[in-house]
Amino acid sequence: MNTVNRRDFLIQSVSAAVAAGGLYPRRASGAASKDRLSVAVIGCGRLGQQYAEIYRALPQTDLVAIAEWNPERRKVVGERFGVKALYRDADALLKDVVPDLAAIITPTKYMADGVVACAEAGVKGVQTDRPFAAKLSDADRMIETCKQRGTVLAGGALERSNWEVEEAGRRLASGELGKRQGVAVHSYRGEILAGGSARILVLEHFTQARVEEVVAWGTPPEALDDAATDYGLSINGRFRLTSGLECQVFGAEAVAPHRGVEVWTEDALVRWDRHGEPLTQIFQGFDAKGARKEVDHGYRPWSWDPVSKQLDPLLDRIGHHGSERHYVLAPISCLIDAVAKGIPPRITGDTQRHALEVAIASKISAQLGSVPVKLPLEDRSLALYPRPYRWLGGDVSGRPQSATEAAGKK
Ligand SMILES: NC(=O)c1ccc[n+]([C@@H]2O[C@H](COP(=O)([O-])OP(=O)(O)OC[C@H]3O[C@@H](n4cnc5c(N)ncnc54)[C@H](O)[C@@H]3O)[C@@H](O)[C@H]2O)c1
Repeated sequence: MNTVNRRDFLIQSVSAAVAAGGLYPRRASGAASKDRLSVAVIGCGRLGQQYAEIYRALPQTDLVAIAEWNPERRKVVGERFGVKALYRDADALLKDVVPDLAAIITPTKYMADGVVACAEAGVKGVQTDRPFAAKLSDADRMIETCKQRGTVLAGGALERSNWEVEEAGRRLASGELGKRQGVAVHSYRGEILAGGSARILVLEHFTQARVEEVVAWGTPPEALDDAATDYGLSINGRFRLTSGLECQVFGAEAVAPHRGVEVWTEDALVRWDRHGEPLTQIFQGFDAKGARKEVDHGYRPWSWDPVSKQLDPLLDRIGHHGSERHYVLAPISCLIDAVAKGIPPRITGDTQRHALEVAIASKISAQLGSVPVKLPLEDRSLALYPRPYRWLGGDVSGRPQSATEAAGKK
């Protein structure tokens, strides 16, 4: 049996088993499982459990399998989510089940192997969380394999997936707010691979342009001396964009009260603030004192609003509130829409790789004395590692999740 046939056979078997009320639990909604996308969560720690909660609850998906390294946690999350198809890792899982979608929420070190294995097995859509890679060669490998296999490679919990952010960028792109004249990134610091990538993705959406050159200054000196990681590094500088705009980059939060991206035109300003309530604001025109006037944003309704309302009690329970309410639901909606409807995901492998390159270029520029660094980077062996928790996970870095917490009984 070749891979495709084996995959179809397995999906049919799984679907049939679900429809018969067998292997996996039926939903209260009673919708036939064959109408839903099957999902595996690979890496089911703190964040993977949030993906599992949402995938399990959505009317469009069935959570059919979990891969989790830690044996105690594997057992606990299997019980918590009613999933019997439990495996140690992606390879073991794919030998038995090839799901339609896979959420690879392992520590970053293992994401590339998981993505490549899923794409090679015939999974239709995969997503990782952030940062999706540390090595450019890993990013290249994931993107190339997914392209060859026709697998959608989408992103995880980064604000670029959020509908408000999508719409704010659409309003800028439409030209109705005037021509973009300037742009700034605030608070590009701390973890420029994680929160920093979130900024680059929004920057490129708001400007419809790419960073093509970086000049950076970095502090503190010890973070610059550490060649390997992004941890604790604060970057000031400027990015030159392919549209010709120059973007000011501020590391320190004290420079502005906002922690995201701002784009301005002659009389308008669009702001995304990472922790803002609301997440985005649009200002147009000036009041009698000359201060900016906030205007009604005029966003179209999100097509997932009805689904999100259905999920309200769940989102409350798992602690998704305010502007972070759709932090995990939004990237999940993007992957589902990409696979089910062919809508391009808002975060792609390519845009995530570019954000990684901007972070690497920023550190290199700062280390070499603020030299201009052009993108894309030629040397594909370059890497920048996140802090140990993100790279290796809580078990290895001294912050393991307890079985009680994994069971959802904090
Ligand atoms: N977007 C965000 O705001 C955000 C927030 C938290 C974590 N993250 C990212 O999510 C990832 C996971 O973080 P976490 O907080 O869930 O960590 P965690 O340590 O709680 O969970 C990781 C889990 O993956 C399992 N695992 C490790 N390697 C595996 C493999 N090869 N196959 C199967 N299972 C494997 C571990 O046993 C563990 O249970 C990290 O990359 C982190 O940076 C992002």
